[in-house]
Amino acid sequence: MNVLIIGSGGREHALGWKLKQSKQCGKVFFSPGNAGTASVGQNVKLDLSEINTKTTDAVVWFCKQNKVGLVVIGPEDPLSAGLADRLTRPELKVFGPKQAAAQLEADKAWSKKVMREAAVPTAEGRTFTDAEAALRYVQAHETPVVVKAAGLAKGKGVIVCDNAEQAEAAVKAVMIDREFGEAGDVCVIEERLSGQEVSILALVDGRNIFVLEPTQDHKQVGEGDTGPNTGGMGAYTPTPLIDDAMMMRIQREVLVPTVDALRREEIEFKGVLYAGLMLTAGGPKVLEYNVRFGDPECQPLMTRLKGDLLEVMLAVCDGKLDQVDLSWDKRVACCVVMCSGGYPGKYTNGKVITGLDEAAALPDVYIFHAGTKSENGEVVTNGGRVLNVVALADDLPTARDKANAACEKIAFDGAFYRHDIGDRVLNMKK
Ligand code: AMP
Ligand code: GLY
Repeated sequence: MNVLIIGSGGREHALGWKLKQSKQCGKVFFSPGNAGTASVGQNVKLDLSEINTKTTDAVVWFCKQNKVGLVVIGPEDPLSAGLADRLTRPELKVFGPKQAAAQLEADKAWSKKVMREAAVPTAEGRTFTDAEAALRYVQAHETPVVVKAAGLAKGKGVIVCDNAEQAEAAVKAVMIDREFGEAGDVCVIEERLSGQEVSILALVDGRNIFVLEPTQDHKQVGEGDTGPNTGGMGAYTPTPLIDDAMMMRIQREVLVPTVDALRREEIEFKGVLYAGLMLTAGGPKVLEYNVRFGDPECQPLMTRLKGDLLEVMLAVCDGKLDQVDLSWDKRVACCVVMCSGGYPGKYTNGKVITGLDEAAALPDVYIFHAGTKSENGEVVTNGGRVLNVVALADDLPTARDKANAACEKIAFDGAFYRHDIGDRVLNMKK
């Protein structure tokens, strides 16, 4: 079976790399892909700048011409715009939820409502459509809050505030100055929680849930968790923060009630349900839902996954997840993200990248491209997050050191990365 993967990040490179290992997998197409995906399969340009009949008919036509039987949708934007709804047909399976289910990520106000009704533990919060009312609320509020644009804002529409002044400024930025555009039409203001954050990803086939190994992402740009939030600077798996009992609890208190609540509204969820959780003194609480694999969480997960990803994805599409078996490499995988100087702010593309082959030749090291492209026979930067360097080892410190050592072999003008991925657990008091 040929496969089409929509997206251009490290997540899509890692998914394609893993799918390609399946005996059933034929050609893998990526749209638009990057310099790394071109070595797994073929990059193609399908215009999905808008999701409408014309653009999606062209994708269906492409799939027919190229005998594609499965489309894997990586990022949230096409999912929330209804790409899965438009492509799904008897001869074409789609991995990724339909539009209604994707609102769990695209509409934080609705997501909050679903959680509240299903009694899923989450931060106390209120939703505002009126800026004046939101301002009055934060002025009257004494404890620290988090201000969130309710719509999709590339992971940037969340402002964690220390006091009322910062909260006022955040409400203004979201609702009045419209820094995140339409995403700020509605604003969610919630209590600020504290604790370690974990990413729990689960495959869901509408009914059955299969939880993947627990991961921890590092969202802030600077070492020691400082500076603004990014899409993710590095992740490792498994994390010792989650033992079997905690995993069962998360499944019971979070994942199962959420999928059941959707079913009660006749919304079928098929794909990856990703709960961003904070482990608070009062137990795990949901910060947000995503409706896709996390990036970079997906990359270390794929290097540890044993078994046939294509078979698993097809089982999700067919509602037969209870019939597949997945197991994991026992080792720890650590992913370090190499970025362009200036990210998550302004940066310049087109910097020549060297040392890729040398780094990839290291044992148990895998390199997944994100913001890269090929130009005149060279690989050059083409985005803020450029490369994902994953290393496997028996423990987290060794995996992290190996990933850092591989990063050292790679160079491009302005390159930077966090050397401290995993420190949040490695530095924990025993
Ligand atoms: P989100 O996109 O909603 O996951 O938020 C992005 C980041 O903001 C999270 O990874 C957390 O670090 C932080 N955050 C979100 N909600 C809260 C909250 N209620 N309390 C503390 N931090 C939060
Ligand atoms: N790594 C965070 C995300 O994918 O949203």
